[in-house]
Amino acid sequence: MKTLDDLLGEGVSGRRVLVRADLNVPFDKNAPAKGEGAVISDDGRARAVLPTLIALRDAGARVIVMSHLGRPKGEPDPKFTLRPVATRLAELLASSVVFADDTVGPEATQAVAELNDGQVLLLENLRFNKGETSKDDAERGAFADELAKFADFYVDDAFGAVHRKHASVFDVPARLPHYAGGLVLKEVEVLKKVSESPEQPYVVVLGGSKVSDKLAVIQALLPKVDKLLVGGGMCFTFLKAQGHEVGKSLLEDEMVSVCADLLAQADGRIVLPVDVVAATEFSADATHDVVDASAIPADRLGLDIGPRSTSLFAEAIAGAKTVFWNGPMGVFELAPFAAGTRGVAEAITKIDGFSVVGGGDSAAAVRTLGLDETAFGHISTGGGASLEYLEGKTLPGVAALEK
Ligand code: 3PG
Ligand code: MG
Repeated sequence: MKTLDDLLGEGVSGRRVLVRADLNVPFDKNAPAKGEGAVISDDGRARAVLPTLIALRDAGARVIVMSHLGRPKGEPDPKFTLRPVATRLAELLASSVVFADDTVGPEATQAVAELNDGQVLLLENLRFNKGETSKDDAERGAFADELAKFADFYVDDAFGAVHRKHASVFDVPARLPHYAGGLVLKEVEVLKKVSESPEQPYVVVLGGSKVSDKLAVIQALLPKVDKLLVGGGMCFTFLKAQGHEVGKSLLEDEMVSVCADLLAQADGRIVLPVDVVAATEFSADATHDVVDASAIPADRLGLDIGPRSTSLFAEAIAGAKTVFWNGPMGVFELAPFAAGTRGVAEAITKIDGFSVVGGGDSAAAVRTLGLDETAFGHISTGGGASLEYLEGKTLPGVAALEK
C-alpha cells in the first residue's frame, strides 16, 4: 500500500490531489439552526485529518477535499450542507478554504479549475449524489469518473468511512494513483495490534443503542476477551434475555433469544448492569431514579447504567492490560444520564495498559465530557469501521488502497 509519504516524496507541487476525509462531525442538537448555521459539537474528525491536509498544502498541492455528512438521500438537502465544516476547517488550518456548492457540478468544476497551488477546496456533501452510495457498480462508477477527473492523485484519510463500499472510498482509487493517509495507517495499525495480539487481560466495553449492530463483533470477540461489559441502550435486550422486565427501555424483541444464546456461550464473561437510571421519559427534566436492573418499573425507561454498575465495570476495567471501548453507557448528552459513561471512561484512563476508544459517539463523549484525550492509548475516528475491522471483515476502502 502506498502512503502519503510516498506521494510527498514523488512531489505534489502544482498537482491536484483529491483527499477523501471523514468530516461527518456531530452538531449541537440543542442549537436552533440546522444546515448552514449549525454548531459543530465535536470537531475531532476534522482535527484528525489536519496533518494530511497541511502536509499537502504546504507541499504546494492543489488540495480537493471530499466528505459525506449525515445520511441525505442522494440529492441536495440543505440540512446536510458541509458549509459549516468548511468554515471550521479554515479556522483549524489557519488558511482559507474554498467551498463549492455542489460536488461534481459546474461550481465544483470551476472551483477546481481556479484552485491555486497550496490552496484547499472542500466539495459539497458526496451523498447529495445518488452514485456515491449506490449498490449498482455502474452508477457508482459513473460518479467516481466525475470525481476522478478533478485530480491527478487520490489520498484516502477517511478511516471512519473505509467500511463503506462507496464511490469516493472504493471506486475513485481504482481510477487514480492512490495513497493511504496517516490517519488511516495509524488506525489500522492500532486495530491490528488489538485484534491480533491483545495483551491479557483484555476487557471490551460495548454500549450504544442496538444489539443488532454489535452482534457480529460480540461473536468475534467473545473467544478473545476476559470480560465483555455491556451498557447503553443495548443492555436492555440482554437484561430481558436474563428474564428481567425492562419497562419502556429500548428493546429489540427479535434479538432476545440471540442474547440468551450469547450469555450461555459466554460463561459469565458477559457482564451486565446490576442497576440502571430509570426515567419517566427521554428528557433531561424527566423524573428519574436508580433502580435494580431486575426491578425496572413498567412505566420507566433506562437511560444510563447505575452507580453500582459503574463501580462493577470500573473494577473489571482496572485490572485490564488492553481495553477496547465502543458506545456510550447512557444518554451522555443529557446531564442526568452522563455519569455511567463518565465513570467508565475515567476507569479506562487509569489502566496500566493500552486502551482504544472505538469511534464516533464514544470518542465524542470523551471530548464533550471534558476528559483528557491523551489519557487514552488511541481514540479512533471510526465507530462502524473499527467494529468491522474487529469482526474480521474486509474493509472496502482499505482493500482498494492495497490494490
Ligand atoms: C460514521 O459516522 O460512522 C462515519 O462517518 C460513516 O457514516 P455512515 O455510517 O453514515 O456511513
Ligand atoms: Mg456511524
